[in-house]
Amino acid sequence: MKDDKHVKRYEDLRSARFFAADDFRSFGHRSRAMQMGLSHEDWDGKPIIGIINTWSEAQPCHMHFKDRVEWVKRGILQAGGMPMELPVHSHSEQFLKPTSMLYRNMGAMEVEETLRAHPVDGAVLMGGCDKSTPALVMGALSWGFPFIYLPAGPMLRGNYAGKILGSGTDAFKYWDEKRAGTITDEEWKGIEGGIARSDGHCMTMGTASTMTAIAEGFGLCLPGASSIPANDVNHKRMSAACGRRAVEMVWEDLTPDKIVTKTAAENATTVAMATGCSTNAVIHLIAMARRAGIDWTLADFDRLSREVPVLANVRPSGKEYLMEDFFYAGGLCALMKELGDKLDLTAMTVTGQPMAVSLEGAENYNPDVIRPLSNPVYKEGSLALLKGNLAPDGAVIKPAACDPRFHKHSGPAIVADSYPELKKIIDDPDYPMTPDHVLILRNAGPQGGPGMPEWGMIPMPKALLKDGHRDMVRLSDARMSGTSFGACILHTAPEAYIGGPLALVQNGDIIELDVPNRTLHVKISDEEMAERKAAWTPPEPRYERGYGWMFTQHIEQADKGCDFDFLKTEFGKPVDEPVI
Ligand code: FES
Ligand code: MG
Repeated sequence: MKDDKHVKRYEDLRSARFFAADDFRSFGHRSRAMQMGLSHEDWDGKPIIGIINTWSEAQPCHMHFKDRVEWVKRGILQAGGMPMELPVHSHSEQFLKPTSMLYRNMGAMEVEETLRAHPVDGAVLMGGCDKSTPALVMGALSWGFPFIYLPAGPMLRGNYAGKILGSGTDAFKYWDEKRAGTITDEEWKGIEGGIARSDGHCMTMGTASTMTAIAEGFGLCLPGASSIPANDVNHKRMSAACGRRAVEMVWEDLTPDKIVTKTAAENATTVAMATGCSTNAVIHLIAMARRAGIDWTLADFDRLSREVPVLANVRPSGKEYLMEDFFYAGGLCALMKELGDKLDLTAMTVTGQPMAVSLEGAENYNPDVIRPLSNPVYKEGSLALLKGNLAPDGAVIKPAACDPRFHKHSGPAIVADSYPELKKIIDDPDYPMTPDHVLILRNAGPQGGPGMPEWGMIPMPKALLKDGHRDMVRLSDARMSGTSFGACILHTAPEAYIGGPLALVQNGDIIELDVPNRTLHVKISDEEMAERKAAWTPPEPRYERGYGWMFTQHIEQADKGCDFDFLKTEFGKPVDEPVI
C-alpha cells in the first residue's frame, strides 16, 4: 500500500529493469529466480531488498545473524518487498590476521560492488564487530541507494566467579595481573570461559559499540537500535522493523545523501565524544564522512572534543558499567536526549523523520550510567588530537582512559622498530627503565603494520609491573583496541614506515607530551631532524603482488581515514549503473 511519501513507482526501480522487461535477459532473471522456487508473486511490483549479511563461522560477534536474517526477511515480506540475502566478508576482529583493518577497505569495495551488481533497490546492512560497521557504511554510501544499518548488538555482561567482566578491558587487566603473578592459571581459564558468554559484539564502549553508536548518530539506524543487546528479544523485533523500513525507504527514495550530511557528521562525532569513544572512531568516522563527500578532519574532532563531555559511564572511559547497563538506562536515545542542543535534531534519519522525532519519548532511567551534562564522567570529550614535530599530521590520545599525571609529561625514549623487538623489551624484568620513560613502537602504521594493527596499547613492561606500576606513556603509529586504556599515543602521522618523524627518534631523545595544549614533540632541533631524515633509508617493499601490494600502493594515512585514494568521492566520475 503506497502512502503520500512514496515518490517511486515500480517501473522506476532498478530491480524492475531485471525482472519486469519483456526481453531475453529478463527471461533469464525470472527463470533463474523460479529455479530457486520463487514465483511472479515474489517480485511483481515489489522492491528487492539486499540483505548484506556478515555472518561467518569465523565471526563470533555475528553468530546470531544466521537466525536474525530471517527476522529481517520477515519484515521485508510484511512490507511487500522481496528479500535477497547477500553474504559478504565478515571482518572478525579476533581471527583476521595480521589485522582486520587491513581488510576494511576490501570489505567496503565488496559491499559497494555487491550492491551495484545485483538487482536490489535498497539494502539492510548487518554488522557490528569493529571494522564491519565502517566497511558496510562506506561501501553502501558509495553505492548511493537507500539503506539502513542493523547493528549486531552488544553481548551481555561477562561473568566469572561472581565478578562482572568487560570485553577487552578485563582481558588486558587480568593479563597484566597474570604476568605480575597475582592470579592463578585456573582463574585465568575461568575468565576465558566467562568473558564472552552470549551472542553479540564486545560489550564495553569499545570500537564496536562506538561505531554502531556513530551509525545511529549519523541517522542510519532505527532509534535506539545500537544499544539493544544481541540476545534481547527486542533485537529480533528491531531486525524485522529494519526490513520493513528498508522497503519504505525505497518507495520514498530516501537515499543516503539526504541523511549523511555535514550536520549528521557533526552529530555523529558529538555522539562519539559523549560515549567516551574508541580512538578508532576517528579513523572510521573520517573515512565514512569522506565517502559522503564531507571533508571531515582531525580539527573537527578536536573542536568537538573540547565542547562535548563524556556522558556514558561505560568502561573503559567510565568506571563501572557495560553496554547491558547502558541499554537498561535508556540507551543511546537517552544519551542523545541528555546532549540537548549539542545535537542538531533537524538532521534527517532513516525513519524519514528528523532526529527530534527519534528522541521523542526517550528517557534516562539511570543518571549514574547515562550522566546529565551537569555531572559528566569526564568534562571534555574522550579524545585529544596532538600535533608537533613528532606528528605533523596528528596523533591521538584518550586522556579519559589514562592516569592524569601523564597529561603533561616529558621523558626519554626507548624505541622498538618492530613488535618482536618490543616484546624483548617488555618481557625483560631487568630492562633498565623508569615510569618516566616513553616506550615507542614504530613501523606499525597503515603501511608499516601493515594495516595499522591494534598494537598501540603496548603491554606494560615487566620491569615496571614488578614494582607495581600500571601505566606509562607509550607512543606508536599503530591503533589500539577501543577497549584499551592507558597513556597511549596512537595514529602518529605520517607513519615511520614512510619516513615520518617517528622513524627518526633515537633512544634517549626527550619526548614531550602536553595534552592540555595538544602538543607532541621530540626535543631535537630542526637541523638535527633534517640530518637524520637525510640519513634515513626506506624499508624494502613488503608485497610484490596481490591485495597487500594494492593496499600499500593506495592506502592513505590515519588523518585521512586510511581509505584507498581511488575510493574517495572526489576520485573520478560517478560509477555508471550496470547495463542489464
Ligand atoms: Fe567483535 Fe570485539 S571482537 S566487537
Ligand atoms: Mg576491538
